[in-house]
Amino acid sequence: MFRDIADTAAPAVMPPALHAGHNDLRQGLLEPQARISPKYLYDARGCELFEQITQLPEYYPTRTEAAILADAGPAMAQALRGHEVLIELGAGNCEKVRALCRSLWPRHFVGVDIAGDFLYQAVRRLAEEFPGLDARAVHADITKPLQLPPDLPQAGRLVFYPGSSIGNFDPADALAMLRRMHGLLGPDGGLLIGIDLPKPLHWLEPAYDDAQGVTARFNLNVLSHVNTLIGSDFDEDDWAHHAFFNTRHSRIEMHLRARQPLAVAWPGGGRRFAEGETIHTENSYKYPLPHFQDMLAQAGFSTSKVWTDERQWFAMVYAHA
Ligand code: AVI
Repeated sequence: MFRDIADTAAPAVMPPALHAGHNDLRQGLLEPQARISPKYLYDARGCELFEQITQLPEYYPTRTEAAILADAGPAMAQALRGHEVLIELGAGNCEKVRALCRSLWPRHFVGVDIAGDFLYQAVRRLAEEFPGLDARAVHADITKPLQLPPDLPQAGRLVFYPGSSIGNFDPADALAMLRRMHGLLGPDGGLLIGIDLPKPLHWLEPAYDDAQGVTARFNLNVLSHVNTLIGSDFDEDDWAHHAFFNTRHSRIEMHLRARQPLAVAWPGGGRRFAEGETIHTENSYKYPLPHFQDMLAQAGFSTSKVWTDERQWFAMVYAHA
């Protein structure tokens, strides 16, 4: 059974006259190191491109995590017994939660994502595949306090946050996010979260700069999305994708680099960029496991199980609230 819950986010496409919102975008673009929040990477085209990324030979996280979920399925089902309410944050196409539904058979599922249309379709497909599952879609920005359906049972909740998406937040925001997740759970609640672990550079960097240029298109697409949101006049051809591992911060950084000196304008403002100047669009932190467990503890969780792959590239961590 599929249920569509109140739409809590703003529509993705605004009429030009209403370009008043998204002040964070304008402010970010005016900072000395210009930045665009990675959440703007995910308009409809961005979601499609991200799906393509997950299938690239160089992009190891998705397939490594899927293999852990498949291999550890029975052990996970055992450890997660009693969780009948599954809440997936950033559910996207609901692909990952399928494996979990097959081993856990929850009664309730709530998929939360900022990409509304994409989510509604995915949750509808999930409801068809698992008859009897009370499946709901909540269109919301998971970086903000979250309103779950009021009739969702409190007991037996499990928050599922796969894909190492927690790595896309800076550590202080990641901690705040973990605390908010903790706040969604009752005393018997749990969190199952995927994290990407540090690994040699020659594996890390190509995963974010693939030979087919899909990640480059994904990164550049954010400019078209920003044009729609604030009425700016970015031209994707003026910019080049740049991704590298920042060892000091243990994170991949994605930037867009100006190919030549240029000016960008939007209603009420604008900015010049020198050749080579960049807009920082994403960080993807690679946490050593003990470091991440420490963050979990600070958010009120105690780690009870960790599953990883043979190369120890990725981990699924189960933590109690
Ligand atoms: C969604 N997130 C976990 C991806 C990552 O690996 O940080 C986003 C991504 N950016 C470029 N490629 C993938």
